[in-house]
Amino acid sequence: MTTSPATEVSDASELRHQLVEQLRAGSHIRSAAVERAFRTVPRHAFAPEIPLPAAYANDIVPTRHSDDGRVTSSISAPWLQAEMLEAARIQAGHRVLEIGSGGCNAALLAQLVGPTGHITTLDIDPAVTDRALRFLPQAGYDHVSVVTADAEHLPAGVVPDGGFDAILVTVDTWDLPWIDALAEGGRLVAPLRLHGYHWAIGFTRKEGALHSDEPLIICGFVAMQGDGAWNTNRRTVPGTGVHLSWEDGTPLPVDQLASALTREPTVTRTNVTVGGQEPFDALTLYLAGALPGFCRLEADSEGDNKVLNPPLRHWPAAAIVRGGSLARLATERIGEGDDGKGRYEFVVHGYGDQGHGSAQEMAEQVQHWQLNHRGARCPLITARPAADPAPAGTDHEPHVFAKKHTRITVDWPIVPGSAAGPTSPGSCDAG
Ligand SMILES: C[S@@+](CC[C@H](N)C(=O)[O-])C[C@H]1O[C@@H](n2cnc3c(N)ncnc32)[C@H](O)[C@@H]1O
Repeated sequence: MTTSPATEVSDASELRHQLVEQLRAGSHIRSAAVERAFRTVPRHAFAPEIPLPAAYANDIVPTRHSDDGRVTSSISAPWLQAEMLEAARIQAGHRVLEIGSGGCNAALLAQLVGPTGHITTLDIDPAVTDRALRFLPQAGYDHVSVVTADAEHLPAGVVPDGGFDAILVTVDTWDLPWIDALAEGGRLVAPLRLHGYHWAIGFTRKEGALHSDEPLIICGFVAMQGDGAWNTNRRTVPGTGVHLSWEDGTPLPVDQLASALTREPTVTRTNVTVGGQEPFDALTLYLAGALPGFCRLEADSEGDNKVLNPPLRHWPAAAIVRGGSLARLATERIGEGDDGKGRYEFVVHGYGDQGHGSAQEMAEQVQHWQLNHRGARCPLITARPAADPAPAGTDHEPHVFAKKHTRITVDWPIVPGSAAGPTSPGSCDAG
């Protein structure tokens, strides 16, 4: 049985409005302008190869894969597109750059800026820009400029006089080399990698730097390719199946950890607890900035290591290396929890001769976070050009992440006597 074009159009329109209701109910759509854009843009026109219901599901639609099967391009999940569009605060008449293309999000942007604004959408992959070039006019958006280039080097002539009013980065990025392309007062929204975590952050440019004071959204995006691709700086502890990554900071020698990892660890309790369904990414980001030698620890499930107990859950663990010793954050179930999903205590496992001291050092930081920062709405994040002098010190030093183009500082507001509370809205792959 075939479907008539008229039926397909009405089905698509019904599915689109259902999706909008879902996004409004989840508070991902909060403004009338973003709602109108989602009610108007025919998402299915940018994924003609999949069934209509899949095009209107609140989920990522993969559109390109690498030879080894990784997703290299996708239509981002609608909830994340909506969150990022809201964070970008786009107005009619704005000039907007989208980094990472495909067409669908560019069409949403074109709706938001209207006929007096302008959208430039840029992608490193010619097959992706080819899709955007074909699908955008077919869907009625024929004034979008589509550019094929590595976003690490914006081509001359792409940046308008005075800079873009907004830049949306829709690919996982380790750095923010676009400050100069943004107008003063403009918004930049990007999924920024800090020690392997991706945080969708909305920044405003003020006096040549980017500032954010909004809650962060944990998200997963496809990897940056080209000259801005990050280096995982991953080292394998010989004979253990354990890997340590220093995406920010300098990798430390790992060979001498092999014998430490053959012995049972010491266990340092923290008395800090977390619900079974409660993400604790904010704690990990705090530890990444607070502890020198911070790294992320992963273990092969079939690796030779016998002492990583409890085994790692889905995400790589927070860890620190001290010479031939190592400490890593773990959780231990201590009860059922009010929601029946379990209550867990953060514990720190120490490996090697100095393992216990290293574990205590990490445990103290977990307790410091609990007492002073856990209730904070969000940290203040600033990105300054790497060449700029560091601003004069305040009464406390923010955490610093030194990137290639920028120096990112993360300043955790002090909330004395912080109580347990949600640490971030959630984690998932969405773009
Ligand atoms: C999640 S997709 C973009 C989704 C899109 N904005 C949409 O309509 O939902 C990410 C894109 O980033 C692109 N990309 C990766 N590295 C890049 C780079 N260095 N410069 C420009 N684009 C890049 C990929 O080719 C991919 O198409």
